[in-house]
Amino acid sequence: MADFDVLILGAGSGGYACALRAAQLGLTVGLVEQDKLGGTCLHVGCIPTKALLHAAEVADSAREAGQFGIQATLEGVDMPGVNAYADGVVSRLHKGLTGLITGRGITVIEGRGRLSGPNEVTVTAADGAEASYSGENLVLASGSYPRTLPGLEIDGERVITSEQALRLDRVPRSVIVLGGGVIGCEFASVWRSFGAEVTILEALPRLVPAEDEACSKALERAFRKRKITMRTSTPFQSVTTTDDGVAVTVEGANGEQSVLEAELMLVAVGRGPVTDGLGFEEHGVHLDRGFVVTDASCRTGVANLWAVGDIVPGLQLAHRGFQQGIFVAEMIAGLDPAPIDETAIPRVTYSRPEVASVGLTEAQAAERHGAEAIKTLTYDLGGNGKSQILKTQGFVKLVQRVDGPVVGIHLVGDRVGELIGEAQLIYGWEAHPEDVAPLVHAHPTQNEALGEAHLALAGKALHAHS
Ligand code: NAI
Repeated sequence: MADFDVLILGAGSGGYACALRAAQLGLTVGLVEQDKLGGTCLHVGCIPTKALLHAAEVADSAREAGQFGIQATLEGVDMPGVNAYADGVVSRLHKGLTGLITGRGITVIEGRGRLSGPNEVTVTAADGAEASYSGENLVLASGSYPRTLPGLEIDGERVITSEQALRLDRVPRSVIVLGGGVIGCEFASVWRSFGAEVTILEALPRLVPAEDEACSKALERAFRKRKITMRTSTPFQSVTTTDDGVAVTVEGANGEQSVLEAELMLVAVGRGPVTDGLGFEEHGVHLDRGFVVTDASCRTGVANLWAVGDIVPGLQLAHRGFQQGIFVAEMIAGLDPAPIDETAIPRVTYSRPEVASVGLTEAQAAERHGAEAIKTLTYDLGGNGKSQILKTQGFVKLVQRVDGPVVGIHLVGDRVGELIGEAQLIYGWEAHPEDVAPLVHAHPTQNEALGEAHLALAGKALHAHS
């Protein structure tokens, strides 16, 4: 008899979701965690960064109040105060999560776990004591860490990761953000709102390169207006620390090197899997550049050994981890959960403006179905009352298979992340524009822009030129 029906290594989004669902299904669950329950997302990822972004929005609202006829001035940004607010949010959620986990009868095992047998995890506690536990099923959910580039040393003072950026007690005068992906754009946005001079370095030709090209262009336009400097097609070469900051050498488009200076450099070039030294390969788990290779059902190929979350190649998003964790728990319990469609996972960059998407980009759809077999429509938020009220610009871009369903929805604008739920439904239900067009959207909401875009694609544009 194993100690648990399900033994989970890591209590981040993937691991704890699996634990909660498994317990709900009547399985006995052991959850191994060396740090706090909740993992990256809750403690050093999604939640605290979105709190910072909300504080940034408050700063912008104060600074721009005059545009709305309100007299206000932004007197300053009290970073310890901002951090205390973010910490308060995290600690309330952490308390709630801890209560949920104990309430469901899950056994939390504190310490660093490693795979020590086909169905066994050995856990080293903080005091060095070791104990082994067995599970009928094991779920690997050890998460990810902020990675760096070869030869680029993170000193935690001048050259920092997003985790260290969350602990800054001041607003830097100037920052170089290395990497124009999701983390880079979100921090660039926060620091600019707080008054810093920000330069983004991105090796590829555009910011948020995984998004539809139109979204990258719109974000770049908005960032330029906000006086964020962007150097795209600019690979990083090296960094040295100076008396009061960093000097960063980059290679420009013409191959010439130039040196940029700032108080800090944030390294945001992706996140690597936490799989080193955890005994995975020794027990037959196949790794590819450190990531755990699984089939579409999160199976590793080793009997009763599953993997979920950021260690599995694909989108490194908390909600993907939740879904995989729930899926694996249901598989173990003998249910028949629907397979997870990776393309149907919504993506949101919470910068100002926000970028949100689900499904295929125009380029991906053209590649998959042929350029002549797809159609796109862009509805400008200029025609949307609520967006005008908020003074935000952007669009809804739809990608449709000719005479077929909508296969991609791409949004840019303040607050559009909140619209992704309906977009996901439309994508997931393989709706045709004609199916969405008759749905009534409340006026005036930004959500209405989604309805209007589908009306237009169905040939019935209301507040847009046909
Ligand atoms: P990322 O993969 O989104 O972006 C990294 C960027 O760095 C890429 O655009 C890449 O081209 C660039 N880069 C790499 N090497 C470079 C070099 N030598 N010089 C210049 N640029 C270089 O990774 P990021 O932003 O670090 O985020 C990590 C993960 O966390 C992502 O998978 C992301 O989806 C997830 N995340 C999601 C959030 C959200 O959903 N809102 C928020 C924060 C992170």
